[in-house]
Amino acid sequence: MQPVITFALAKGRLAEQAFTLLENLGIDCTEPRNPGRQLVLWDRANNIRFILVKPSDVPTYVDHGVADFGVVGKDTLLEAGRPLYEVLDLTFGRCRLCIAGYADQKNQQATRATFRVATKYPSVARAYYDQKGQTIEIIELHGSIELGPVIGLSDVILDIVESGSTLKANGLTVLEEVAECSARLVVNRVSMKTKRDRVREIIDGLAAQVQTLT
Ligand code: PRP
Repeated sequence: MQPVITFALAKGRLAEQAFTLLENLGIDCTEPRNPGRQLVLWDRANNIRFILVKPSDVPTYVDHGVADFGVVGKDTLLEAGRPLYEVLDLTFGRCRLCIAGYADQKNQQATRATFRVATKYPSVARAYYDQKGQTIEIIELHGSIELGPVIGLSDVILDIVESGSTLKANGLTVLEEVAECSARLVVNRVSMKTKRDRVREIIDGLAAQVQTLT
């Protein structure tokens, strides 16, 4: 009997694209594609279990070993800072983590005692400005981050930029690029050893799939 393999997937677009890759490996994703209110979904024939969770919770489930694999954005991994094996760039869900604000923002900096950064990535922001030797105040938000500079809550934001249309619609622009991001396959450190053959087989299968995408 093959060991149960559990996937923690970030709900939404990333999960949808992950299902397509997994289906190409012969994994049945009918249940997780149509979860209703059910939280644990199965492909019983292949002994594969899925949990669909908030993106920021994916690294937590994998780090604690209740999920063997996770599919989540690099932005979320950077913020979580957990000791997971990041084994594959799945190449979809591409975006950039950027500092953004008004184009003439440099001229506005002098108006405030502390430089304020609104973000849902406080750890990334702290590390980025520490490395630059710049003192900042972080204002943590959980959505609509672009409002920060627009409404005068912050000088800049640190957020993901995909198409750039949200920035543009609000008169903001990219000032600095912090990191290139995309969906990543992560593995629990213990599963990598205790379920080695099965884990390897899935990683190799997905790696071959990704080759066809690029
Ligand atoms: C994300 C992000 C930006 C936007 C970027 O927000 O926080 O606001 O997408 O995408 P774009 O460059 O294609 O416009 P999301 O839509 O996830 O909603 P949120 O503001 O509630 O976090």
